[in-house]
This record gives sequence, structure tokens and C-alpha cells, in this order.
Amino acid sequence: MDKSTRFPTSLSGYEIEGLIGIDASRLVPLYQGCSDYVVLERGEPPNAATAKEEFESFPPNRTEADKFIFGVKAIDGEFVGLLACDRNYPRVECWWIALFMIDKALRGRGLGRTLCDDFFRWLKSQNVKWVELGVITENEQALRFWQRQGFKPMRTAGPVSIGAKRHMVQVLGRPL
Ligand SMILES: CC(C)(COP(=O)(O)OP(=O)(O)OC[C@H]1O[C@@H](n2cnc3c(N)ncnc32)[C@H](O)[C@@H]1OP(=O)(O)O)[C@@H](O)C(=O)NCCC(=O)NCCS
Repeated sequence: MDKSTRFPTSLSGYEIEGLIGIDASRLVPLYQGCSDYVVLERGEPPNAATAKEEFESFPPNRTEADKFIFGVKAIDGEFVGLLACDRNYPRVECWWIALFMIDKALRGRGLGRTLCDDFFRWLKSQNVKWVELGVITENEQALRFWQRQGFKPMRTAGPVSIGAKRHMVQVLGRPL
């Protein structure tokens, strides 16, 4: 599996692209379209470096080799969503979702749910057994979203510093 790997999506009018560090600048408009989320998480709006940071941040004892960043691209070539993951974290056969965001203008239309279904179906076909992620406890809408996708709370972590803010994080998981 290389960085151009992508998973099939059932969404018509969109395609998934496997991204690498040099693609960060192409994601700047999407980060602007998700600035509400960036402000909630970091206490400050996105800047030119914010997208780049996602390509350079890894869980403890992990490297770029296991990081996969999928862009969700509309027919006009603009990115409308991003899914960043770490393979085999925190253990083998488990993937960690580091970031999932959809442009604010397109939320609440079922894109998030469909992309999750597509992604989890593909992970399952790759013999992945489990998915985990962390949600900042302030992000109640996301907590509700993930619970609707079948995730269950596992533990609370933190406080962790992100940008100018400190957060408690709810770790959620689900089998595939
Ligand atoms: C979380 C996120 C990725 C979900 O993507 P989305 O495309 O909005 O997801 P969906 O449209 O599938 O579902 C979102 C909500 O809209 C509702 N919804 C789905 N289709 C709908 C429709 N046609 N009409 C109205 N509401 C709808 C869903 O029931 C869901 O409600 P819930 O949040 O109470 O569970 C998106 O809201 C987002 O980018 N949020 C900001 C970033 C973020 O918080 N990411 C998670 C970090 S852990």
C-alpha cells in the first residue's frame, strides 16, 4: 500500500485522492472552509502552515510511513473533505482516525456518513479489525456523529495542548 492508495467511494461526483506533503498547499481552501473546527480545536484560525502540520504529526512512536491522508475531491477539483489516518495504531489491525473534516458548506447532507461507510468497508477488505479516534470533549456535534457511526467511548485522555487551547479527549472505538 503506497501513498497514492485510495478507497472506492459510493458518492457520485466525488473522488478520493491519496495525498502527500507537497499537496498541503492545495488543502488551504478546505482548511478555510473548516475554520470553525480549527478555531474550536486550536483557539485560532487556520494559516498557511496548518494543512502542512497534519502531514507532519504522528502518534507516539509512529512515522510518516504509516500515515495515510485521503482528500475528498469534487468534480471541479476542489477538496471538500479530508480523512487522515495512522495505520496499525495503537496496535496492529487497528487504524487511528487522526482527522476527519468536511467543508462547512457541505455538512449535514450525509457525506460524512457515506464516506465513513466506504472507508470502513475498504479497511475491512484490508483485514483491519478495529478503528479508534479521539474527539475533543468540547466537540459535542462530532461526538454525536461518531456515536451514530457505531463508535463507543473507551477512555478519556488529556489534558492535551493543541495550538492555544487545552483539551480533554474522548477516545472512541468500534469493530469493523
Ligand atoms: C463530523 C463531520 C465530518 C460529519 O460530516 P457530515 O458530512 O456533516 O456528516 P453527515 O451529514 O453524514 O451527518 C452529520 C449530521 O447531519 C445529519 N444529517 C445527515 N444527512 C442529513 C440530511 N440529508 N439533512 C439533514 N441532516 C442530515 C446526521 O444525522 C448527522 O447528525 P448528528 O451530527 O446529530 O449525528 C462534519 O460535521 C465536520 O467536518 N465537522 C467539523 C470537523 C469535525 O468536528 N470533525 C471530527 C473531528 S473528531
